[in-house]
Amino acid sequence: MTTAKESVKQERSWSFGTAPGAVPLLGHALALWRRPLDFLASLPAHGDLVEIRLGPSRAYLACHPELVHHVLVNPRVFDKGGVFDKARQLLGNSLSVSRGDDHRFQRRVIQPAFHATKIADYTAAVGDDTRAAIDAWRPGQTQDIGEAMHALLMRVAARTLFSTSVDTATIEEARQCLLTVSEGIYKRTVAPLGLKEKLPTAENRRYAWSNTRLREIVETMISERRRSDEDHGDLLSTLLRAEHPESGQRLTDEEVLDQVVTFLVAGSETTASTLAFVFHLMGAHPEVEERVHAEIDAAVGDRSPVFDDLPKLEYTRAVITEALRLYPPSWMSMRVASADTELGGHPIPSGAMVVYSAWAMHHNPELFPEPEKFDPGRWLDERAKNVPRGALLPFGAGSHKCIGDVLALTETALIVATIASRWRLRPVPGSTLKPQPKATLEAGTLPMRCEQRRPS
Ligand code: HEM
Repeated sequence: MTTAKESVKQERSWSFGTAPGAVPLLGHALALWRRPLDFLASLPAHGDLVEIRLGPSRAYLACHPELVHHVLVNPRVFDKGGVFDKARQLLGNSLSVSRGDDHRFQRRVIQPAFHATKIADYTAAVGDDTRAAIDAWRPGQTQDIGEAMHALLMRVAARTLFSTSVDTATIEEARQCLLTVSEGIYKRTVAPLGLKEKLPTAENRRYAWSNTRLREIVETMISERRRSDEDHGDLLSTLLRAEHPESGQRLTDEEVLDQVVTFLVAGSETTASTLAFVFHLMGAHPEVEERVHAEIDAAVGDRSPVFDDLPKLEYTRAVITEALRLYPPSWMSMRVASADTELGGHPIPSGAMVVYSAWAMHHNPELFPEPEKFDPGRWLDERAKNVPRGALLPFGAGSHKCIGDVLALTETALIVATIASRWRLRPVPGSTLKPQPKATLEAGTLPMRCEQRRPS
């Protein structure tokens, strides 16, 4: 059992519930598989901690922010396991899937590479990449904003990681590989038996080929960089030079390779989806869009937005926060109890899965009044103070909290400001948003019509 210090303080009593609608043999597995977002959002009404059945196993959804926080800040008791164990075999023992001492070591070596002081340098070229992408847009043209943001984010990620050393064709090739690899990793981690994934099908061959090719591309970048030994001021240079603060130990090439692939998987789709959701929401709410445009115009005038403008874009940042609340790209994650323990006064056996879902929390009316309403004003002035502590969790918390959170928010704000200063994106009549819960919450196909606000 955990020590008294590790258990959540019993200042209040927590309600414990069981999810309704379990079916024989499968329990809630079908509901979680077929309509995960609705199912998860329905659970907080049944308790602060809710038991669900996945076949013969019991899992627990922590619904109350304090219980979620407790799980996330106690990695010795609630560690990465389950789907992360499977992902480790595919991604290598990298930051997002490692556990225990391995994770603590990696985090200490890599954290300085994401220090806030580095972000301005990493994102210096984001405006150029964004302008290069939107210069090709024509008034009246339709863009699939999900696809356009993914292509842009891959260029931005390549630039952040490898500065100028990658050509456009290689970036596009890496992007296509990454799409297949991310999808493949997701399918392999959620497949109960994984038998289909072992068959020699075209899809499985494509996955294997894309994985090898992606790693080859990244490997070439690393060995070129090792040869030159120059500091390019990008994420790769910082990673190659990073040292453990006490032992002085550095990452091997294999470890850097695993981390870079992890950053591409963890960082590009999440940020691209966030941008697609932001533009969809602005398009559907012209009054919000107008205010964003006015704020950007006042802060930036005729020139292009830069890093130093971001503090002035308070409303734009509130719009991004509200998009992350409504559509959190990381919609569900889990930990596994490494020993018999308790949560909210309820016993949790060793090996049990404890799930947390930003989607379920962000759509809980007890935490966010009118949760389905897109209301950026929640994040401004006095109203922001009313949001319960820990209720907004797009980047997680504790020792596994997103290491790229500041980078992602900076890139997102710069890209929104750069695009919105020149283009207004209108939803194409009849197109609707259907968020797709996969490894991340994807925006799916979102055609939008381009209206020029200002020539390039
Ligand atoms: C809007 C964009 C992003 C969102 C919403 C997001 C969300 C998250 C969340 C929720 C976690 C924690 C998952 C858990 O608790 O199991 C996480 C972890 C992580 N993220 Fe992000 N992320 C974003 C962008 C990025 C970027 C840009 C990078 C890197 C370039 C990145 C790299 C990582 C890594 C390496 C981890 C694992 C950290 C660890 O376990 O120590 N993410 N992210």
